[in-house]
Amino acid sequence: MKNLIVANWKMNPASLEEAKNIFSGIKNGVEGTNNEIVICPPFVYLAELKGTALGAQNIFYEEQGAFTGEVSGEMLKNLGVEYVIIGHSERRKLGETNEMINKKIKKALEVGLKVIFCIGETAEEREAGRKNEVLERQIKIGLKDIKLVDLGDRQNINIAYEPVWAIGTGNNCGVEETKKSIDFIKNLVPNARVLYGGSVKSENSGDYIKNAGANGLLVGGASLNAEEFVKIVKSAE
Ligand code: 13P
Repeated sequence: MKNLIVANWKMNPASLEEAKNIFSGIKNGVEGTNNEIVICPPFVYLAELKGTALGAQNIFYEEQGAFTGEVSGEMLKNLGVEYVIIGHSERRKLGETNEMINKKIKKALEVGLKVIFCIGETAEEREAGRKNEVLERQIKIGLKDIKLVDLGDRQNINIAYEPVWAIGTGNNCGVEETKKSIDFIKNLVPNARVLYGGSVKSENSGDYIKNAGANGLLVGGASLNAEEFVKIVKSAE
């Protein structure tokens, strides 16, 4: 199984021109890598970027119809998008529940998209010693009635462990603590490809792959800088 390195651009950048620049910098820089690379730009740029696997940052769980402002799995699939991030903590904060996430994962798999399923505890949950309980609940409900399938050198479901307190803070989770969580997740979902995310930079990225048992990385802020993202990809080789 290849390592999966994902760029989550979140709600960035502000123009298509900038998006194309970052995209081509990444595409050229990662040529020949033995990692699997997926770039997840905002919906509005998906049709314009070509040459590297693309992922969406969200999906709706219904089919086409009267759902103003939503984007369906079929639309993404028909556009050539391969992956979708589901359950990111920034969406959970806006009210997305484990039950909604379960419906989204089912819909994504039904239309043939591969899933990057995000889980992670908040600072309060971690301090209260509830980390594993939270991860277990997110997994049990999020993946209810869903089977992990190996598709040759990739999987239909990839789990991204992103401690909420480590996202965008510069306070990345220590390698030992990450390893414990990754082991815990792999115990609950045997054979899963598990990624780490949360303040990943080229200085810390290699450690997660080599020493924490991560099978990939979900990179936010650092993925908007092509040179830095390429370094991260190389560190995982
Ligand atoms: P940062 O890399 O900016 O901390 O974001 C992580 C993340 O949320 C990726 O999905």
